Amino acid sequence: MRSLASDNYAGAHPAVMAAIAEANTDHAPAYGGDSTTARAIELFREHLGDQAEVFFTFNGTGSNVIGLQSLMRSWEAVICASSAHINVDEAGAPEKLLGSKIINLDTPDGKLTPELIESVQWRAGDVHQSQPKVVLITQSTESGTCYSPGEVRAIADIAHARGLFLYMDGARISNAAAGLGVDLRTITTDAGVDAMSFGGTKNGTILAEAVVLLNPNLGVAHDLGYIRKQYMQLSSKMRFSAAQFIALLTDDLWRTNAAHANAMAQRLAASVRDIPGLSIERPVEANGVFATLPAAAIPVLQEHTPFYVWDEATSEVRWLCSWDTTEHDIDSFAAAVRSTLGGI
Ligand SMILES: Cc1ncc(COP(=O)(O)O)c(C=O)c1O
Repeated sequence: MRSLASDNYAGAHPAVMAAIAEANTDHAPAYGGDSTTARAIELFREHLGDQAEVFFTFNGTGSNVIGLQSLMRSWEAVICASSAHINVDEAGAPEKLLGSKIINLDTPDGKLTPELIESVQWRAGDVHQSQPKVVLITQSTESGTCYSPGEVRAIADIAHARGLFLYMDGARISNAAAGLGVDLRTITTDAGVDAMSFGGTKNGTILAEAVVLLNPNLGVAHDLGYIRKQYMQLSSKMRFSAAQFIALLTDDLWRTNAAHANAMAQRLAASVRDIPGLSIERPVEANGVFATLPAAAIPVLQEHTPFYVWDEATSEVRWLCSWDTTEHDIDSFAAAVRSTLGGI
């Protein structure tokens, strides 16, 4: 099956599989005490700065929950876009496990702005009110847009001025960096992000994600070790997760994979944009295309290639490209869109 449903429908990249096989020799210390994990952490530090503290995890929801838990207490709140994964796609895991309030703000494009963050008012020190502690932004966003380095910096500045940490949900950090044509640290460490989840799954790993503390002054690395264990994100055979990141972070495979997925999204948008009855309202800045089309065409096209409806009310659909999406996948799907819409 070929799919545009999600970038996690794709399998593992062959170099990732080879790295797992390479790590599969002899015995090695468990829980991250091994040399493969040490090498992967070194590579993270080459990309994100020597101060980075890296915690390998199994999935993105778990990463977000433990990353946030290291930064906040249950009476504190996290500010995010309404469309944020933590708000709509984690089955309430942050609310249940952090016990914290999520303050979600409507945005046209999935992006918070300094003005939106400033619009949140609270009485600091008032025991009756949840106290905002973290601003969460998603890079690239759930709407397929990217924050420029300047936009991240502006949010970091306003967050820090208000005594808040900036946390980045980086499930698609590689797609964002590739789309913006920048290094990983330009939109994270150098832009003032305090902590982040670093996505691997959507870019070719399996069961391998990470939480990275970027700000050396947080002082929460010790706690996060215990939090990861309590929240069941600590892998005993960690070398196999770490090996996958060695593959991604060597010779910039992360960028090759993400740039390819992004290029396929551009190809798809360019191939269908002129079709009467179809419109693409959101900018295509990473690996996703959001298109509005006649409702009757959707099930027909889903038979050809599975994808999700993003907004039932407006018939907006989401097509996500992966590291292994081919030009043939795109051209054949674009032809199906053209003929289906032509017949409606
Ligand atoms: C923006 C974002 N954050 C986090 C995740 C991680 O989710 P999961 O817990 O399924 O790995 C996803 C996956 O779809 C995502 O799109």
